[in-house]
Amino acid sequence: MDTGDVDYMKIDGEDIRPIWLDKNSKVVKVIDQRLLPHEFAVADLKRVDDVINAIKKMYVRGAPLIGVTAAYGVYLAALTSSGKSIEDDYMIRECDRLKSARPTAVNLAWAVDKVLSEVLKIKNPRDKIIAAQKEAAKIAEAEVENCRKIGEHGLCLIEEISRAKRGERVNILTHCNAGWLACIEYGTATAPIYAAFEKNMDIHVWVDETRPLNQGARLTAWELGKYGVKHTVITDNAGGHLMQHSMVDMVIVGTDRTTCTGDVANKIGTYLKALAAKDNNIPFYVALPSSTFDWKLRAGLKEIPIEERDPDEIRYVQGLDQGSIKSVLVPPADSLVANFAFDVTPARLVTGFITERGICKATEQDIKRLFPEIK
Ligand code: MRU
Repeated sequence: MDTGDVDYMKIDGEDIRPIWLDKNSKVVKVIDQRLLPHEFAVADLKRVDDVINAIKKMYVRGAPLIGVTAAYGVYLAALTSSGKSIEDDYMIRECDRLKSARPTAVNLAWAVDKVLSEVLKIKNPRDKIIAAQKEAAKIAEAEVENCRKIGEHGLCLIEEISRAKRGERVNILTHCNAGWLACIEYGTATAPIYAAFEKNMDIHVWVDETRPLNQGARLTAWELGKYGVKHTVITDNAGGHLMQHSMVDMVIVGTDRTTCTGDVANKIGTYLKALAAKDNNIPFYVALPSSTFDWKLRAGLKEIPIEERDPDEIRYVQGLDQGSIKSVLVPPADSLVANFAFDVTPARLVTGFITERGICKATEQDIKRLFPEIK
């Protein structure tokens, strides 16, 4: 993406990220994504417990942002350590607590371990704190750059489709929110979309509402709208119909964990979109930074832990009622409810991956062509 003179204004003229440090570097500030799009609120995270709560309750969500938030959690663990020294055992315990906040996004453990390993190299407590802060900031900036490059590479795919359609509108379907709210800047799935928009291409995004928490309807629609990208919110079940009627040119989704063999864990419902795309010969791309590959896992269906969340997320639907946010009960109060948060799309249904190093097929061989350092 040519970022030369592009101003990445996000909200009504203000350039904002979903996470930042306050000016004294004592408080981690995050956008409370539970309240969007109807309320814009910022939450203060001052201790490790605040970070764990924010990740569990989904003030912050999306694999890269979960990783960066947890990285700052390690920094807060060092900063708020009560002893004169910062014991290694204490840091390791706090990091284990952080890593268990949510199970599916691999970026969480990856980022925590990266910061921890810097901290453990150092003896002096003050230097440990400085090292933790520096490493967390480094991870955040690296994710920004990764997403920028994903945009650059993914743009070529949209341009190809646009050329084949002789400049007619390109319709892209996405599921959940893999935008800048989930990733600091640009997003993963949305990065090619924003890049195409910056090039004045005629694009339109079908936004799956993404039950139960409606990350698509609440977050992706809000982001795209603030940026000026044409979009339409659809029910989670509409994608197949649109694909059958040639109303979708490509699908781009994000991922929370992808195996080195190309199996993709993402928000529940992604698998059904991939099946429908395959049946209708529509390219199905997954956009991800290298931090979302789990290089140790090979069999996604068996090995990727799938989070089961609070059934109340399904029972209740949240929305705006006469100016205030309310929740209402949908099913009979005594019906059993099960809330599987993710599913696994097998590699055979994925057309390709859009990564910071370029585009590859969903095969171990082609993934490792881009990442030859992984043995
Ligand atoms: O439960 P969430 O909102 O954290 O899940 C996030 C997703 O599954 C998104 O689709 C996203 O693509 C993964 S991170 C960019």
